[in-house]
Amino acid sequence: MSQPASLVVLISGSGSNLQAIIDQCANNSINASICRVISNKTDVKGLARAKDAGIATQVIDHTQYADREAFDAALIEVIDQCNPDLVVLAGFMRILTESFVTHFKGRLINIHPSLLPKYQGLNTHQRAIDAGDSEAGASVHFVTEELDGGPVIAQAKVPVEANDTTETLAKRVLTVEHGIFPAVIGWFADKRLQLDNNQIVFDQKTLSHPINWPFAD
Ligand code: GRF
Repeated sequence: MSQPASLVVLISGSGSNLQAIIDQCANNSINASICRVISNKTDVKGLARAKDAGIATQVIDHTQYADREAFDAALIEVIDQCNPDLVVLAGFMRILTESFVTHFKGRLINIHPSLLPKYQGLNTHQRAIDAGDSEAGASVHFVTEELDGGPVIAQAKVPVEANDTTETLAKRVLTVEHGIFPAVIGWFADKRLQLDNNQIVFDQKTLSHPINWPFAD
């Protein structure tokens, strides 16, 4: 097997997606290794998950910086120490500056809990319920300058049930997030996936639409 892809994972909270990535790195389902987990919040569960797995952690508290540019510059400096192949936003609840996105373009991915381009931004589950949608889901996308607007690599759909609340729907969506996110990271690690001219190239072919879960391989 080739050298594992080096990842830096950014979190702000529970880190259940981080856990799915940790587990798949550990059992060699994906050829990747996490260099560092960075959180903008102290004492979140995701930091404990990283520590339990023996992964280096760092808190960079955004409230300690004068503005977004200063915070993102500090973030870039710490991430660059790992020289990662891929920067993974796993529930990282900060809007990133153009300088940050440009610095990591093509090696920066995010998971968003909606079927993009529907429901960019926050409160995705409640918005899907309020709209009477019959399905919801999650999307993994390359990050570009537009918030939640970069090219979508993969999506997973789940049904919206009649009695769903934000909590029940979020839980159902999270279970599929834990499937698609590590899988996409695995493709990137295996060099099957690139961002080229703002388009996704997968297995040497330009994608015209996202890959839908469950994946063929
Ligand atoms: C997920 O729903 C993800 O899509 C969104 O934030 C949530 C993070 O959950 N960006 P967790 O911290 O991975 O449990």
